[in-house]
This record gives sequence, C-alpha cells and structure tokens, in this order.
Amino acid sequence: MKKKLVVLSGAGVSAESGIKTFRDAGGLWEGHDVMEVASPEGFRKNPSLVLDFYNQRRRQLFEVQPNKAHYIIAELEQDFDITVVTQNVDDLHERAGSSNVVHLHGELLKARSVNSYDSFDWKGDIHLGDLHTDGHQLRPHIVWFGEAVPAIPDAVSVVEKADIVIVIGTSLQVYPAAGLIDYASPKAMVYYIDPNPAPIHNLRNPLEVLAMPGSEGMQKVKDKLNG
Ligand code: OAD
Repeated sequence: MKKKLVVLSGAGVSAESGIKTFRDAGGLWEGHDVMEVASPEGFRKNPSLVLDFYNQRRRQLFEVQPNKAHYIIAELEQDFDITVVTQNVDDLHERAGSSNVVHLHGELLKARSVNSYDSFDWKGDIHLGDLHTDGHQLRPHIVWFGEAVPAIPDAVSVVEKADIVIVIGTSLQVYPAAGLIDYASPKAMVYYIDPNPAPIHNLRNPLEVLAMPGSEGMQKVKDKLNG
C-alpha cells in the first residue's frame, strides 16, 4: 500500500508562477490592505472594489502556469497516496495534475450567492448587480477573514492519517490553516519548504526545514523520498 503524504501549501508554492504572495510586499496584496479585499467588512464597505479585485486575480490566473513545485507534487502521486490541502485559491495544483486537492480558502474559479455556501464553476468577471437565481448578489467563492472554514474537518482527518507531511510556501500566520500540522501523528516526518521559514514551536514530529524556493525544495524532498 502506498504511504500517505499530505502537502500543506500556501501562496509561496505559486510564487514562481508569478502570483504574488500576501505578506512578502510589506503587508500589501497587489497594492491593497488584505482586510480591505479579503474580509466581509471590506466587501460591505466597497463591494465593487472587492469584486473587481477578484476579477483581476481570476483574469491573471488564465495567464500563469503551474511551476516545477506543483508538477513534482503531482508526479509524487505515482509513489504516494497524496492529498494537497492548500490555502491557495488558484487552480495550479489541479492543472499540474494533482487529483486530490482540498481548498481551505475557496477557489477563484467558483462563485456563490451571498446568501448560500453552495458554490458553482465560474470563469468570468462578477459585477455588482449580478444576481444568483435566488435573487441575491453573486460573490467569489473565497473564504474571507472572520468567515468559517468549512473544509477544516476534512483537512484535519487527512493530516491525522499522514505518514509524511510537506508544508510549502506558507508563513503559517493564518489560522486555522496554520494549526493543521499539530494534528500530524507524532511519527510522521514533516518537511517545511520556504525561503523565509516561520519558526515552528512545540512540534512533536521529526522536522526538516528547507529554506529555499518551492521548486528547489520539492526536488530535494522528492530525491529524499525516492532515495
Ligand atoms: P503568505 O503571503 O503569508 O506567505 C507566503 C510564504 O511564501 C512566505 O513564508 C514566503 O517566505 C514564502 N515564499 C515566497 N516565495 C516563495 C517561493 N518561491 N517558494 C516557496 N515559498 C515562497 O501566504 P500564506 O501563508 O499562504 O487568505 O497566507 C495565508 C492566507 O493569508 C492566504 O490563504 C490568504 C491570506 O490572507 C485569505 O485570502 C483568506
């Protein structure tokens, strides 16, 4: 039976594809305070700005490609039973070939009504006044700060069963996502790939930190796992 491997990915895994991370540019995300464009308060205050911000992110997604880190993660499915638990709202893991991806913070290519959690595929822009058939405004299917993270129980369950955990490209600042590694079985090996790794305290597990970009780090981890 294949060993179970969980990849916990954040914005850094998509950095080499040309998508900006959240906290590497002095706290600004594409020129905006994160709370302005990623919170229900921000959406209430200026819905057009928030919708337009995600319209731009969605359009950008069609211009970027998965990078070597995404591809290595997908290739490892040949030898491991892999679940990718990502904080990212892009679809680059799927496009690289990963078949089992849990999106903790939603997906840019999905929309929903402001009145419901039921999401559906959506590739175009969303404008103020675009209504769901339920009569309510459409919004991006993104989990904003302060909102529930419905995928967390599934994510906890896969992390608990993992033999190996790879944490890649996350500053480990946003909870509950950042707390997922604490659910790993104490025997599970944990690799953390990030050029500027956050300190990890009180982890019961064997831990190897690879302070380098995602593509290089994934190549090294792949060599270790195959060796
Ligand atoms: P952050 O922007 O907080 O952290 C990105 C991490 O990627 C940092 O630790 C960088 O050092 C690292 N990094 C930069 N370049 C890299 C590269 N080439 N390879 C690998 N790593 C690299 O992003 P997240 O931790 O993902 O939530 O942020 C978590 C959440 O905060 C996001 O999902 C988003 C945000 O607000 C919502 O929008 C709800």
